[in-house]
Amino acid sequence: MSAPRTEIFADAQALAVHAADWIAGLIAAHEGTFRIALSGGSTPRLLFGELSLRAIDWSKVVFYWIDERFVPPDHPDSNLRMARETLLTRIDVAPEHIRPMPTDGDPETAARAYEALLKADYGAAVFDPARPLFDFVLLGLGGDGHICSLFPGSPVLEERVRWVAAVPTGRPEVRLTLTYPCVESSRVTAFLVAGGDKAEAVAKVRAGDASLPGGRLKPQGELVWLLDSQAAKLL
Ligand code: 6PG
Repeated sequence: MSAPRTEIFADAQALAVHAADWIAGLIAAHEGTFRIALSGGSTPRLLFGELSLRAIDWSKVVFYWIDERFVPPDHPDSNLRMARETLLTRIDVAPEHIRPMPTDGDPETAARAYEALLKADYGAAVFDPARPLFDFVLLGLGGDGHICSLFPGSPVLEERVRWVAAVPTGRPEVRLTLTYPCVESSRVTAFLVAGGDKAEAVAKVRAGDASLPGGRLKPQGELVWLLDSQAAKLL
């Protein structure tokens, strides 16, 4: 895999504007359905707001999530709620193009249900490296180097068969997360990271430090780092 492309911006707003322009261009240039998998947390909020302002043919786009807090969709910590507030309610997107992780019932059943949905959309139960599941995966990075809800020391880091897993520990709320094989099945993978509190994790993950979950990621397609100056300050 070639060295990842890295772009550094003055601040989080400039980062979000560039990322939105770039993603809009990728969608416009793409033939057919564009499957994008979103991160949650706080960093994507500015990006989602910028994306909502772009002239994008949203009928091409299907939205998935890379992880979710196992809370109701109207809960303040819900990644779906954040995406709805900042993007999905502001654009013309068909409800069936919004494919959130289920957070009703029990976490294990919900994980299996999402895995079944992904496999149905993909059209196979085994990944073909020549045909990635996603066209674009948007990753954040935790200060501890986690991606998705793949937290340091978690048994789910070793999962190579399941596509989606329930993560009972590591955070106050139970999480659902894509596993490495699933999140790596993407034509383009972009880290979007802002803030000086992430600088050490950025430097370590980019150096391939396997003690951090982000350092173990091996995306199939192009890997791009989009950083603000603070997150990049140790590079
Ligand atoms: C989540 C995210 C998670 C996030 C990192 C960074 O559900 O929280 O998917 O992986 O990307 O924790 O979060 P911030 O952007 O809030 O720093």
